[in-house]
Amino acid sequence: MTSDDDATAAPDHATPEAAAPDAVTPDSSADPTPEDGVAAPLIELRDVGKQYGNILALKGIDLRVHAGEVTCVLGDNGAGKSTLIKIMAGLHQQSDGELLIDGAETRLESPKDALKKGIATVYQDLAVVGLMPVWRNFFLGQERRTGLLRSLDVQTMRATTKEELFKMGIDLPDVDAPISSLSGGQRQCVAIARAIYFGARVLILDEPTAALGVKQSGMVLRYITAAKEQGFGVVFITHNPHHAYMVGDHFVLLNRGRQKMDCTYDEISLEDLTQQMAGGDELETLSHELRK
Ligand SMILES: Nc1ncnc2c1ncn2[C@@H]1O[C@H](COP(=O)(O)OP(=O)(O)OP(=O)(O)O)[C@@H](O)[C@H]1O
Ligand SMILES: [Mg+2]
Repeated sequence: MTSDDDATAAPDHATPEAAAPDAVTPDSSADPTPEDGVAAPLIELRDVGKQYGNILALKGIDLRVHAGEVTCVLGDNGAGKSTLIKIMAGLHQQSDGELLIDGAETRLESPKDALKKGIATVYQDLAVVGLMPVWRNFFLGQERRTGLLRSLDVQTMRATTKEELFKMGIDLPDVDAPISSLSGGQRQCVAIARAIYFGARVLILDEPTAALGVKQSGMVLRYITAAKEQGFGVVFITHNPHHAYMVGDHFVLLNRGRQKMDCTYDEISLEDLTQQMAGGDELETLSHELRK
């Protein structure tokens, strides 16, 4: 475990507004404002492609992530969703095209660099230590210390964890409980709350509802909406068009590395989204075949 010395973006107090110096608050996302008066997207990809050796994982991707919006990235297995996330998370670099943050062309050197710029990714397998208390996981790698001996400031970390979760509608009776005792939905929410607390303004969520039942998914979807309403930009990766349609403002569908569809909520119905997601004609053919 690392000490707080390598904390990437620790805020002074427990609100998104108190985010680290590098992180801009969600509400100030209108800055910098281009001359036409329209806020620049938090993240923009222009004609982005990614090649792994001779495998073309992505080609010609144009994507904009705005503050206060949920951008859903849908697609079947192998469509390129994870590759897309990895580029925005600073884990991989694109082979072609441009990545802009707040309207300025940027190169993300590492996930740490992305986090400094306010982009946090919550991966499906959540890097948590199951036996450690919830508060300990919340501050993992960014521990608060106090006094001459720089001992762990347990009291502050405990209280802050409880407060931050409560703010987003999660009332945990005991933040001392091991995180493994929480439900899958609660664990996802803790990871999101943590990203917000440590200065994120863009949240990239990699299939957060994939392994969850209806009730648990509902908890995460409510949380996504709460984050959006507070001005965060959310990128929600999912296989599930129903989940996407419940929270999404903007939908991007990937198919074998290409952008097959890009539309807003007003431009598409749930039926159409489901149909597109399922491969449209392919699904119809399959249905006829199986029902013969
Ligand atoms: N590190 C890598 N090296 C080589 N090829 C890769 C690598 N990562 C991904 N690919 C290939 O790129 C393509 C897109 O993969 P990616 O993991 O982005 O898809 P995905 O949409 O996330 O799929 P899934 O829903 O299964 O997670 C696939 O053909 C995959 O085999
Ligand atoms: Mg994937």
